[in-house]
This record gives sequence, C-alpha cells and structure tokens, in this order.
Amino acid sequence: MTADTRQDLPFRYEHLGQDGAARTGLIHTGRGTIRTPAFMPVGTAGTVKAMYMGQVRELGADIVLGNTYHLMVRPGAERVAELGGLHRFSTWSGPMLTDSGGFQVMSLAKLRKLDETGVTFQSHIDGSKHALTPERSMEIQALLGSDIQMQLDECVRLPAPDAEVERAMLLSLRWAERSLKAFEAKPGRACFGIVQGGTVAALRVESAKQLAAMPFGGIAIGGLAVGEPQADMLAAIETVEPHLPADKPRYLMGVGTPDDLVEAVRRGVDMFDCVMPTRAGRHGLAYTRFGKVNLRNARHAADPRPLDEASDCPAARDYSRAYLHHLVKSDEILGMMLLTWVNLSYYQSLMAGLRAAIAARRLDDVVAETKAGWDRGLG
Ligand code: GUN
Repeated sequence: MTADTRQDLPFRYEHLGQDGAARTGLIHTGRGTIRTPAFMPVGTAGTVKAMYMGQVRELGADIVLGNTYHLMVRPGAERVAELGGLHRFSTWSGPMLTDSGGFQVMSLAKLRKLDETGVTFQSHIDGSKHALTPERSMEIQALLGSDIQMQLDECVRLPAPDAEVERAMLLSLRWAERSLKAFEAKPGRACFGIVQGGTVAALRVESAKQLAAMPFGGIAIGGLAVGEPQADMLAAIETVEPHLPADKPRYLMGVGTPDDLVEAVRRGVDMFDCVMPTRAGRHGLAYTRFGKVNLRNARHAADPRPLDEASDCPAARDYSRAYLHHLVKSDEILGMMLLTWVNLSYYQSLMAGLRAAIAARRLDDVVAETKAGWDRGLG
C-alpha cells in the first residue's frame, strides 16, 4: 500500500521565466511540485485509462486529474475516503486535481436538474439520484483527498444565447463564493475558481475580475472547447488573461489538441487537462512529432518502421507501425495501451519542450519547428 506523502508545505506558484505572455514556473503543493506549463492526464474514474500510474509518472506527468461526478456515483466518495483516499486507492502519490462536476452539468444535461442550490443528477450507471451543491462538491473533493479542488460551476455548450451564457456565468460566480466558504483550507492544498462567459468578451472580463478578487489559489478558464472554433477560444483567452493575477496559476479546462496547447501557452496559460490523448489512443490514433496518425489506415499494414525511432517512449520507438496497425484492427487491448502511452508521452514531451523554450526565450522558434514537424507528416 502506498503511504500518503502529503506534507504541510504552503501551496504557491513560483514564477521562473517569461517569453511574451508565455510563462514557466513551479506550483508547489503538499504532495510535490508541478512544472508549468503542465499537461494533466485525465484519470476520471481513478485510473488514467490503459496506463499504470507508475508509467504515467515515468513519462513526466507531475499531476493527474480525477472527477467528482464519476467517483461520487461509483464507488462513492465516502467509500474512497474509508479506503484512505484517492491517492492510496489509485497508487498515485503526486499532486491530484479534482474537477467539481461542473462539466457534467453540460455533458450529461439530459440527466440533470439545475437550480440556484445546485444540480441533481440521475446516475448514468444505475439511474440513482445524486445531488451536487457547491458545498457537497467541496466535501466530496476533500474526501477524495484532492490537492487542487475546483469550484462547482455551470459550463454551457456553445453556441448559446448571450442571456443563457450570462445566467450561467453569474450563477457560477455565486457558486464560487459558496465553494470558497465551504473549502476547508489546509496547507499544501488549494481551491481554484472558474471563469465562465462563453465567447462574450464583456462577460468573460466580469467573471475574471470578480474571481481575481477572491482568495482562490488559482484561476481556471472554463466553458471553452465546447463547440466553438479555435479562433474564438484563443480570443477568449486573450480577453481574460490581462485580468488574471500574475502570482497564481492559470488553468485552461478540457483543452486540447497539441496545437491548442501551444497556442494557449503562448497566451499565458499554465495548466491543461484533456481526454484527447487517452481517448484517441483507445481509438487507434497516435499523436507524434510528425502530427496525428491513424493506425487503422492500410498504409501501415506492412510498414516495419516504428512511429518515432528517436522517441524516449518504448511504444513509439520499439514497435513497428505494422504491429500497431494489426493490434488496432484486431481490437487488442495492447493496441490501446501502446497508443495511449505514445500519446501521453508525446503530450508530456511537448510540454517539456515548451517549458525549456520559454526559459530560454526561444518560444517562437520552438513553436515554428514543432509545427513544421506536424506539417511534415510521418513519411
Ligand atoms: N472541463 C472542461 N471545461 C470545464 C468547465 O467549464 N467547468 C468544469 N468544472 N470542468 C470543465
């Protein structure tokens, strides 16, 4: 059994370098330090799907994400707490961020009822009823043993009428205050607020300003990558960024493709999470230095070359494209495992490259080289 490694050290952001609006730094938590810009692999149900936690750590991830909604439905937050918390349960001993359930307000909209108090969900698993208020979300995240807790918010799918986006943004601000009040501050832990406001600049600014004035440990930008074009997402980040405190981490939720990450880092974002690398890996898609590769394609069927012979990742370096193609076509579990490994490894190496580039003030050059690699293709 893994011992709980949490120490009573203060949660803080340490700024190390800047290149334009892009930042590199360290987030110190009671369970370890996160190098930023950081990509957080998604461990929705207490597992980064198709990966061992030891592998996730080895490929350079400093923090993983867990989900309030999924874990409260199954196996239940109290059960996880009785078993020593999510770190012990999953064997991940580093920092863990938990999302609040605010995203499922949107993604599971058919199964929910929302009012000022909170949200009532019908479980997508067994139909059982679960209530989530800002207070209960904070309690669940504390029971899980989260290091970074997220406020409960309402994320709206776009496009949506401005009035609807405004209503959800204002509700999220009221829930931000309730979340902070309910958050049990402990050394080494933090609670983050979430900016909403869709693609309406005035709403984003109001949301960011109000959250910046509250004693959150960091600020997230939510409600993006929910159906809008990339240009609108990047414009929303540019609108919000000047209003975010420079001494706190900024986290863009649920984003994105490698190109989204690069462009958001350029605009001052420090943290990301997305199911894309893990989900794509389970569907035969690889992210590499040479762009996105569909291993289902027949052109790989007899190709003895690996995906990337220069990669540190054994899955990208040691297995032929023909073998990966065969595994994917045969729906073999190993195919999902290897491609998830390839993808998370690429995402982590991309972030490491961006961190080094910002520190060396070479970000524009490194981004140009990176994009040239994607455009070149696999060959
Ligand atoms: N994940 C992706 N987007 C969001 C959001 O707007 N809110 C929350 N809570 N989680 C998210």
